[in-house]
This record gives sequence, C-alpha cells and structure tokens, in this order.
Amino acid sequence: MPVQSGRREAILEIVERVREIESNCGVTRESLKQVKRVLVQFAMNVDWFTDEEFPPIKTESSETSCFYRLAEDEETHRFALYVQSARAPVNLPPHNHDTWAVIAGIRGDEVNRFYERTPNGICQSGCYTVRKGTGVAMLPDDIHSIHIADETPVVNFHMYGLGLEYLYNREYFDYQEKKWKIFPVYDNIRDAMNI
Ligand SMILES: [Fe+2]
Repeated sequence: MPVQSGRREAILEIVERVREIESNCGVTRESLKQVKRVLVQFAMNVDWFTDEEFPPIKTESSETSCFYRLAEDEETHRFALYVQSARAPVNLPPHNHDTWAVIAGIRGDEVNRFYERTPNGICQSGCYTVRKGTGVAMLPDDIHSIHIADETPVVNFHMYGLGLEYLYNREYFDYQEKKWKIFPVYDNIRDAMNI
C-alpha cells in the first residue's frame, strides 16, 4: 500500500481521541456516541480509504468480507480500528461483541438490525442503515445483525474496545437451533498498521 501523507498521523490521532473519551467518560451510551461522532467524521476522508488500497472482496471468492487493521494497542490489543471491506450477500446472525463496538460508513449501505433478548431467544427492536455520514455504536451486550444486499461493495470503519482476535466470548443466536452459541473468533484480518 502506498503511504499517503498525513494519514498515519490522522489515524493515530483518532485512536488517541477515542482513548481519551473512554478514559474520561467510561463505556456508556453517551461516550460511545462521542466515539461514533469522531469516526463518522473521520470516515468523510474517503480519499484516504480507496478501493485500490482496500480492495473489495472479489465476487468469485467464497469470502464476503475482510478486515484491514489500521491500529491496535501493541500489548493490550485495545482500541482496535479496522477498515472492513464487504460485498453482498452478507447476513451475519444476531450477535454481541463482548466489548464496545462502533461502525462508521465510508461507502455503500450496510443494514444493521438490533435485538433484545427474550426468554425464547431474541426480538428485533430496531434497524439502521450505515452509510457515509452515519454510524452505530454498541455496548458490549448490545445485539445486532448485519445485512448487505446491494451490489455496491461496502467499506466501513469498525472500531472495538478489544481486537477481534481476542473476543472469545462473543455470542450469536442460531435461528435453526434456537439457541445462543459462541461466535467463532474472526481472523480474516490483513495488516494495514503501516499505511
Ligand atoms: Fe457486530
């Protein structure tokens, strides 16, 4: 990947701002709203996150998404910031994150459905489409599912309180068996720590 002037410094500054928000305000709906605002604003720098540098998944591939790691604390793996590149069809089942999570749109439409737990499983409580200029923020126990149907590839920021490879206790709801299961650790992550 070519190095674009100012981008690495900007990424580190964003992570620092998020770190300050968490340090000053903890992990709450309000603090995560602040994190979302920071990332949504940063996502407007579309020239820094082009398809050339973060290629969409090829249609002939069996994969539908991958993550490019932009930043993550070295020893604690905290404050993990990724560019996610995805293409239809994506239908990720309802899941939590076991850490806070924020998504901010760069290109394309990603439908997020939100759920509440019920005695028999889950019940949808909301729906929001993440696209450029918008985002969603979730506490560790919040539940969402992700859906991509449009042909236009989706590119988003995803930021987590802890790196994806270290989220061992994420749960997802298996509709067929009607029960919660442990979400396999996501590891299709490409290094972009030096862009
Ligand atoms: Fe998620």
